[in-house]
Amino acid sequence: MAPDLKNVFCIFFFLALTGKCRLKITSGGISKSHAGANDDQLMQYVFNNSLREPPVLEKLRLKTLEHRWYIMMVASDQAQLMANLAKLIKAKKAIEIGVYTGYNALNIALVLPDDGRVVGCDINENYTNIGQPFFEEAGVNHKLDIRIQPALKTLDELLAAGEAETFDFVFIDADKQNYDNYYEKSLQLVRKGGIIAIDNVLWSGRVLNPAEGDLSTQSLHNLNKKLYKDERIDLSMLTVGDGLTLAFKR
Ligand SMILES: C[S@@+](CC[C@H](N)C(=O)[O-])C[C@H]1O[C@@H](n2cnc3c(N)ncnc32)[C@H](O)[C@@H]1O
Ligand SMILES: *[C@@H]1O[C@H](CO)[C@@H](O)[C@H](O)[C@H]1NC(C)=O
Ligand SMILES: *[C@@H]1O[C@H](CO)[C@@H](O)[C@H](O)[C@H]1NC(C)=O
Repeated sequence: MAPDLKNVFCIFFFLALTGKCRLKITSGGISKSHAGANDDQLMQYVFNNSLREPPVLEKLRLKTLEHRWYIMMVASDQAQLMANLAKLIKAKKAIEIGVYTGYNALNIALVLPDDGRVVGCDINENYTNIGQPFFEEAGVNHKLDIRIQPALKTLDELLAAGEAETFDFVFIDADKQNYDNYYEKSLQLVRKGGIIAIDNVLWSGRVLNPAEGDLSTQSLHNLNKKLYKDERIDLSMLTVGDGLTLAFKR
């Protein structure tokens, strides 16, 4: 499919659901930013000279590319950045809001210490089951705590269990209309110096012109505006993938 058509397909079929719309360099199975000015060759150069995808993660990515909603999977370069950040801050406890087949949940689990934990939130077990054999193969299944129920319920349960300010890293990547709720709960759950990474903040460029009635775009745009002024965090908005905001809790 031509990239433009693919994007249109994306807009119509994914907007109401969740997920991301990015151009894919299908040969490598890697995503290219919509927002960056880089051409395909330059991006290929970047990937060729920086991606170090662990073999088990590559296997899960290739498996996920066979699934009909594979476009929801996080980009490999973005995943690598998040793993490096988690390592940098010596993360032990993480939360994945929107697991899908578990590409990033596995990616983070791989860099946590053996007694680390990733709490995964998703509502569709059929998706997370795809990743299960790969979590086992990687020897990190014991670090994954996947809870199949609405993410807000899981976050509330963690708070109720007294786990506020104990998490190091959160990745927000589920239904866009709940992003602000996910952000507020995450801010309670992470410690000072912890990181909340928020995906799809550029939403294929649609945040520039939120269309009337397009609730996902409006939700993302409003959150972007709010975070810019939010004194509780330091932040960076990156053009990697479909736009990634890093919020560092003060
Ligand atoms: C973009 S995908 C996540 C991709 C994943 N982070 C990765 O590494 O590839 C979004 C996921 O959010 C899940 N989801 C949608 N609404 C949800 C909700 N209310 N609570 C929890 N998960 C939800 C979907 O089932 C889907 O698997
Ligand atoms: C990237 O690597 C592939 C496979 O080795 C090679 O065919 C391609 O020319 C490389 N592209 C760039 C821009 O480095
Ligand atoms: C999971 O797959 C089963 C069997 O195909 C189906 O009946 C069920 O509705 C699916 N669950 C979800 C949440 O899509």
